[in-house]
Amino acid sequence: MTDLQRLIRDVPDFPRPGIVFRDIAPLLRSHFAPTIEAMSGLLNEAEWSRIDAVAGVESRGFMLGAPLALRHGKGFVPIRKRGKLPPPVVEIPYQLEYGEGVLEMQPGQGRVLLIDDVLATGGTLRAAADLCGLAGYQVDCLAVLLDLNLVPGFRWQGIPARTVIRYPATGATDKS
Ligand code: PRP
Ligand code: MG
Repeated sequence: MTDLQRLIRDVPDFPRPGIVFRDIAPLLRSHFAPTIEAMSGLLNEAEWSRIDAVAGVESRGFMLGAPLALRHGKGFVPIRKRGKLPPPVVEIPYQLEYGEGVLEMQPGQGRVLLIDDVLATGGTLRAAADLCGLAGYQVDCLAVLLDLNLVPGFRWQGIPARTVIRYPATGATDKS
């Protein structure tokens, strides 16, 4: 277990019985800078130089994506849940554990690094990456802080999701 992983609080039976919630709040509270540095290190300098902007997924993807963009002098592009962005927007439906959600993004251009906090089922990251394409962006890299390893070897259009912390594959229904 890495030092950063020790600061993630496992909360059993939240938000529902049987789910272990991986709470990153204590990590952000005490080790925000090292967390951002660890995510920054997921791309080498050449990869960072090719990126035009960081796209982050509301809401926890904003907490990590915005400081990463600032750290590297890049723009930030928000991917939001339905109804928050003014037009023009493009949208995409995605699967939640129960039911469906919709992500929205304003059209744009350039090469983006797509950021979220957690990869669980991969539904959010896959939809967000698809949405970047629909909106006119090119997705260069995908990165998350935690990969719960529910989908071992997750890839989107052949691009792997880079991660700072990867949990052992258990087949459990952990969520974050
Ligand atoms: C959580 C988490 C990831 C997503 C991962 O977001 O922040 O975005 O679920 O799950 P998946 O891989 O199964 O799609 P959520 O929308 O629940 O909450 P948030 O607004 O706090 O980010
Ligand atoms: Mg989220």
